[in-house]
Amino acid sequence: MDAKIIDGKLVSASIREKIKEKTKAIKDKHSRVPGLAAVLVGEDPASQIYVRNKRKSCEDVGIYSEEHKLPASTTQDELLELINKLNNDKKINGILVQLPLPKHIDDSLILNSVSSEKDVDGFHPINAGYLFEGKPQFIPCTPHGIIKMLEFYDIDIEGKNAVVLGRSNIVGKPAAILLLQKNATVTICHSRTKNLEDVLKEADIIVAAIGRAHFVKKEMVKEGAIVIDVGINRLDTGKLAGDVDFEAVKKISGFITPVPGGVGPMTITMLLWNTLTSLEKSIS
Ligand code: GUN
Repeated sequence: MDAKIIDGKLVSASIREKIKEKTKAIKDKHSRVPGLAAVLVGEDPASQIYVRNKRKSCEDVGIYSEEHKLPASTTQDELLELINKLNNDKKINGILVQLPLPKHIDDSLILNSVSSEKDVDGFHPINAGYLFEGKPQFIPCTPHGIIKMLEFYDIDIEGKNAVVLGRSNIVGKPAAILLLQKNATVTICHSRTKNLEDVLKEADIIVAAIGRAHFVKKEMVKEGAIVIDVGINRLDTGKLAGDVDFEAVKKISGFITPVPGGVGPMTITMLLWNTLTSLEKSIS
């Protein structure tokens, strides 16, 4: 029997409904709405699409949003000045600096300059530290969305063997920490891992976040496994493909996320969630 499809759009819609209700309640009571500022430096086409989607999603739930599009030639100091202004702007509760940044800009320096109280991406070292400690303030959106999807489908994590493919600060590492906090036994695999197929074959839960189209094949997956595909890879044909060979793997896995329509919608939803949470914290 084919796997059950984890529908990210469905889970997203239910969370966005909650965000909309809470946003309206705050507006009625405090005359405030959550505000998100997205900062985009350069012309990366994928980033432009993300930022456009973010604006539309904010509108749909009643969140104020603004975009700051800067040329690729922007200096580090100019970018720091903008972030400083947004840190002090009362109508802005969340600041998102779209990655990747141009090569001449130091990512860490920029991410560290965003106020940890407006860090809705959860990338500031203070928020990474809180997450590590098990007392998260802002959880990075993609891994947060993955956990929300598992919860929505009543998938038990405790005691499961979870294998995370990829060790990025944005997805792999925080996903591993969150799964660990849900009492999974977690293995992180990466490009230097030996016998990757054998490790994957033992997984009850696979989180694939390596950015290689169709990397996870049917032979690497245990029957009934839960497969979460974070990959968004553009094929030569122009089509989008995940890190998992979806058509083959769905025949053996228990649950699987499609690409598109799986993890993708959840990332923006959790960004909206974090922006609302930021306003809630500031008025409580
Ligand atoms: N680039 C790719 N994913 C992300 C994300 O979640 N946040 C930001 N700021 N940039 C990204």
